[in-house]
Amino acid sequence: MKRFNLKNSNGINADIIDAGAAVQSLFVPDKNGNYEDIVLGLETPEEYLSNNDPYFGVIVGRYGNRIDEGKFSLGGKSYQLTINEGTYHLHGGVNGFSKKIWSTEKIKSNLGDAVKLVYHSKDMEEGYPGNLTLTVIYTLTEANELRIEYEASTDKETVLNPTHHSYFNLTGNPQNTILGHEVMINADKYTPVNKTIIPTGELASVMNTPMDFRKPTEIGLHIEDDNEQLKIAGGYDFNWVINDFTGKVRKAASAFDSNSGRLLEVFTDQPGIQFYTGNFLNGKAIGKNETAYKYRCGLCFEAQHFPNSPNEKSFPTTVLKPGEVYKQTTIYKFSVLNQ
Ligand code: GAL
Repeated sequence: MKRFNLKNSNGINADIIDAGAAVQSLFVPDKNGNYEDIVLGLETPEEYLSNNDPYFGVIVGRYGNRIDEGKFSLGGKSYQLTINEGTYHLHGGVNGFSKKIWSTEKIKSNLGDAVKLVYHSKDMEEGYPGNLTLTVIYTLTEANELRIEYEASTDKETVLNPTHHSYFNLTGNPQNTILGHEVMINADKYTPVNKTIIPTGELASVMNTPMDFRKPTEIGLHIEDDNEQLKIAGGYDFNWVINDFTGKVRKAASAFDSNSGRLLEVFTDQPGIQFYTGNFLNGKAIGKNETAYKYRCGLCFEAQHFPNSPNEKSFPTTVLKPGEVYKQTTIYKFSVLNQ
C-alpha cells in the first residue's frame, strides 16, 4: 500500500492511501489543542478492497449513491449496471472506484501538501459506457482545509457522479455516537425517497420536517421522530438540495461538537449533499486500533449530484460527453469554537 502523509504548519495531518483513494486518518485539534483522529478508517488495503467495507473515507464512483434497478438510457441505448444492493446499483457497483488501487503521485501545490491519484475505468466496467479517467487531488492547506479536486474525461458518452465518503466523528473517539453533533445544511429542499431509498423526483421543502437543518440542530433531536422518510432510511440518509447551485463553490453544511469545540464546514460546487448518520454501522466493521464501529458512530457529508439522476430528467445532468472535462471542488474545513 502507498501512503502519503499531508500536513500543514498548524499540525493538522492526513494519511491518504492508494486503496480506494481513501483518507485513512485525519488529525485535527480540539479546543485544548489535543490532536485526535476524527475519521473512521481501516488498517490494511485488503480491508478497503473487500466488499464488506462501508466505504470508509474513499472516493466513490463512477456513480455515488443509487441508480434505480441499475438501469439508464443514453443516446438511445439502454445500459444495465451491476446490482450490488437490494434492487439498485449503489456507489459504482460490486467493484467500484472505492475498491481499486489508484496510481499516486506527490505533487507541488501553492496551497499546501498535495497528492494526486488517478484511476482509469475501462469501457463497460460495472456496465458503464466509455473509457473514463478520473484524477483526484487532495490538498491540505494552511487554512486548515482538506480540498478535494476532481477532473475526468471519457471517450464515450457516460454518466459520472464521484464523491468522497469520509465518516467523521468530531469527538475524536469513535466509541461515541455522533448524535450530539450540531448539524447545519444550507438547503431549503431535499429529495424524498420511495420505499427502496430512490428519490421520487420531487424536491420537497424541509420546512416543518426533521430535515430542516437550516439552523444548527443536534442530530439526535429528531432522528427518532415518527416520520415516514426517517423510517424508510433508518435515520438521516438523504440528499439535500444545496441552495444557490450555480457551479461555484459555496457553503453546503457544517457539523459542530461542543465538547471538543471542533467545527467541520463543507463547501462544494455540487448541487446536492448526502447527509448520512451511519445507520448501517452495526459493530461488525473493525477499524483502526481494533475499534468496532458501532451504530451511528460516524457521519458522512457526501457532495454529489442527486441520486438516480440518470433516470430523472428534472435533476441536474450527470452526463459526461467526449471532449468535455468534468470538474468538482469540495472542501472540508476544520476549526475550533470556544463556546
Ligand atoms: C451512503 C448511503 C447509505 C449507505 C452508505 C454505505 O452514502 O447513502 O445508504 O449505502 O453510504 O453503507
